[in-house]
Amino acid sequence: KYEYIVIGNPISHSKSPFIHQLFAKQTAIPHRYGSLLVELGAFEKSVKQFFEQGGKGANVTLPFKQEAFTLADHLTERAQCAGAVNTLKLLENGEILGDNTDGIGLVSDIHRHFNLKEHAKVLILGAGGASRGAIQPLLHAGYQLSISNRTQSKAEAMIDEFKKIGLLSLHNESDNHHDYDLIINATSSGVSGKLPALSENCLTPTTCCYDMFYQVGNTPFIDWAISHNVKGTADGLGMLVGQAAHAFTLWHDTMPDINPVIVQLRNEMS
Ligand code: ATR
Repeated sequence: KYEYIVIGNPISHSKSPFIHQLFAKQTAIPHRYGSLLVELGAFEKSVKQFFEQGGKGANVTLPFKQEAFTLADHLTERAQCAGAVNTLKLLENGEILGDNTDGIGLVSDIHRHFNLKEHAKVLILGAGGASRGAIQPLLHAGYQLSISNRTQSKAEAMIDEFKKIGLLSLHNESDNHHDYDLIINATSSGVSGKLPALSENCLTPTTCCYDMFYQVGNTPFIDWAISHNVKGTADGLGMLVGQAAHAFTLWHDTMPDINPVIVQLRNEMS
């Protein structure tokens, strides 16, 4: 019986059990972590059963992050802003806390890779779930944030939605003097081997590029960035390990070192 699990559909591809097993070993904290495939429509029942039978915490992945948001009795601020939950924790009173560690996992990984100045200019591409989860943590980190999306109306809606917590500007493609310090690809274009539409004028020798997507070898966005001689690049593998580390911290109050875990995961993948 596992006390911690990742729940999704599909789930067999999930790297979370591997990552959490390495965290357990590294910290010497008892942390039995497995995976659970849940049928569509059976999420709530399965989660309740898991916690009734001794479960203490769960990660939630596609397609259940919105259902987890609805199910949680309490939400952290970042989960509330994201409108989605990727981490559940059973509280002492039996209620369930919902958190979202995806965005903070991204911010931690950005800090690990790039030495950005205070109030750096950051452009996020995409206005779907991945982008929504990242906006509050990026604003909280102090970045000047712009957004661009293939369907502009969705980016505008996002700006409107987030205006109560901070300023998010609309990227102006026709501006010829872009000076972004960091461009983050939060679109799902990489899944189909494509690039998000973005003018190469946005890339300068001082721009760094981060792709939330990852694969074996460079993603299309990273290849494109490298071919334009940007300052630095990174893919989303570190974000994956980062979100797992922040979930581990929510459960055990100890932050594992993500660096050796990223190295092992990269080795495992290649
Ligand atoms: P996710 O949860 O991964 O963010 P999503 O909510 O379906 O997935 O959102 C996908 C995002 O990727 C959207 O912003 C989408 O743009 P549209 O709003 O215009 O659909 C973006 N996207 C997907 N494929 C893309 C492509 N080939 N080029 C640019 N943007 C793309």
